[in-house]
Amino acid sequence: MPLTRLIDNTADTPNIECLYTHFNFPQAPQDRPYVFVNMVSTVDGKTLLGDVGGSAVGVGDATDQLLFRRLQKVADAAMLGGATLRASHVLYPPDKPRIVLTRTGDFSLKNRFFTDAPDKAYVLAPKDMETERRKEIEAVAHFLGIGEGGVDLTAAMQYIRQELNIRYLLCEGGATVNGQMLPLGLLDELFITITPKLKGGGAVPGVIEGVGLPSHQYLPVSLLSLYHDEGEFYFRYRIEKEVRTARR
Ligand SMILES: NC(=O)c1ccc[n+]([C@@H]2O[C@H](COP(=O)([O-])OP(=O)(O)OC[C@H]3O[C@@H](n4cnc5c(N)ncnc54)[C@H](OP(=O)(O)O)[C@@H]3O)[C@@H](O)[C@H]2O)c1
Repeated sequence: MPLTRLIDNTADTPNIECLYTHFNFPQAPQDRPYVFVNMVSTVDGKTLLGDVGGSAVGVGDATDQLLFRRLQKVADAAMLGGATLRASHVLYPPDKPRIVLTRTGDFSLKNRFFTDAPDKAYVLAPKDMETERRKEIEAVAHFLGIGEGGVDLTAAMQYIRQELNIRYLLCEGGATVNGQMLPLGLLDELFITITPKLKGGGAVPGVIEGVGLPSHQYLPVSLLSLYHDEGEFYFRYRIEKEVRTARR
């Protein structure tokens, strides 16, 4: 079945062949990049089919993979969490700056994330990271030390925008990173593929984990577009900034 347009409230896709190849994103703020998240989830909200901590391979089908690569291409840079980097080799276009968020730096420095383009690889970590590990990282990547004990994500986004001139940042998860960015108001859009599969399992991560918003509070999202292919749905949402309280 071909890719089908169901709803599109944007002017970004004059014809369906160019879906997710071009965006009229709003202007990026001065103090942080405009951040768009991309995730793929089963109908029951799970982001993995294999073992917890493993790669997300197989969750999305071919069109999801195609759109995922297109989103990487349009971003000025991509960011992911240390656990997602540990899960598999991570591949980007060679010219794409790529940023991994970590406390420990506990991942292979032979991951293609680093070896494909060492001058484009950034490790975003607390400035008090263990010295030996920091030196090893500095031998293969740029080390950005921001915050103590953990990265101060608001300050990190400011650095990325103002010092690296990254205006449009793709956040590729996982759920832990998403769960830290969301309550800080650092996420602007969510691209989410819902794939026609069920997984179950309490330990399998969802799309956004962490402590979440306080009881009865939520962030509304506005649907920007929705496409479909072979039972998979490709949602694009704007994440609103004003927290709302649900009626009790
Ligand atoms: N289906 C999908 O779309 C999708 C997308 C992405 C990932 N995944 C899957 O999700 C799993 C990983 O997700 P996850 O939620 O477990 O982990 P994650 O979000 O990928 O990474 C969590 C890690 O990020 C680092 N981190 C987070 N906040 C930090 C902060 N403020 N300061 C410093 N470091 C910070 C820490 O790294 P260190 O542990 O290195 O210190 C932390 O353990 C993998 O299995 C992956 O395959 C699925």
